[in-house]
Amino acid sequence: MSVLVTGGAGYIGSHVVRLLQNRGEKVVVVDNLSNGVQQRIGDAALVQIDLASESATKTLVETMLEHKVTAVIHFAALKQVGESVARPEWYFQQNIGGLANLLTAMHESNVDRLVFSSSAATYGMPDVPSVSEDIVCEPINPYGQTKLIGEWMVANAATAWGLRGANLRYFNVAGAGSPELADTAVANLVPIVFAAIRSGQSPKVFGTDYPTADGTCVRDYVHVTDLAEAHLSALDYLDREHRSHTTFNVGTGQGSSVFEVLEQIRQTTGIKFEADLQPRRPGDPPSLAADVTRIRETLGWSASRNLKDIIESAWAATS
Ligand code: WQD
Repeated sequence: MSVLVTGGAGYIGSHVVRLLQNRGEKVVVVDNLSNGVQQRIGDAALVQIDLASESATKTLVETMLEHKVTAVIHFAALKQVGESVARPEWYFQQNIGGLANLLTAMHESNVDRLVFSSSAATYGMPDVPSVSEDIVCEPINPYGQTKLIGEWMVANAATAWGLRGANLRYFNVAGAGSPELADTAVANLVPIVFAAIRSGQSPKVFGTDYPTADGTCVRDYVHVTDLAEAHLSALDYLDREHRSHTTFNVGTGQGSSVFEVLEQIRQTTGIKFEADLQPRRPGDPPSLAADVTRIRETLGWSASRNLKDIIESAWAATS
């Protein structure tokens, strides 16, 4: 197998690159290094381009032919919800434009297998605690919309020219497989709390009056190494099965509240901190966890790491 990984120098992409390398696969990374870090990809070949640029398709075709690429994993995208609300056109240009160029190049190069990074943000605010892939998606921000449109693009390519695709809808990803692959962005709950307690501040908790057991929001936190392994399972599935396209939730199936995350952080770090209780953050669903039946039954994948593993690995990687 020869795999082209877009966004392979990013936090999640580099974990997948590492697993592919460990398995002896050939890997070529396409990354503009806007958020990616070259040191994360070891000796994998790097093609540094903006996927959404005009010349990208031509470069991608050349790269696929040169490296005899047989499958693509597509991570490269913008992924900050707040930023997507402020700059929607940029999100559509980058996330949709980049995928359109990639699919065009795959078609031209006869590469017919794609694992696409989608998101639980496609669901919006479902009022069920455990979300199955079949519920109607109603994304509530441009970021989630670009991911849902991306899934439609995969479906259309499957119909039009025989692409085989797997859309992986990530829930709340955290943790680290090794220190050099750690999440360096301070954009999600775990890194935000680490940054706060490292500077002696109280981490903020957005909302304590939700209809959940302890009043704080519940999310499905999945270890980045488990998530990375799901990509390899999806690749193997596309190799084995001649289905057109399928969408899978990637989570643990278990929710944890913000207070439970904070308590695990206290236990792991030994730092005794108070929480700064704040009003609800707009747009937060009270409780969101994955129904993982489909991925378990179809790919034979399930998460093997828990919240403790997530927090311990994330803390160790950034200490
Ligand atoms: C988690 C929980 C907050 C910060 C986002 C995207 C989603 C997906 C994953 C990419 C929430 C609470 C947070 C803080 C807090 N991304 N929180 N204090 O919003 O569940 O999901 O990342 O695909 O699309 O929306 O993640 O890490 O921001 O928040 O209390 O300082 O922590 O309210 O309940 P979220 P998050």
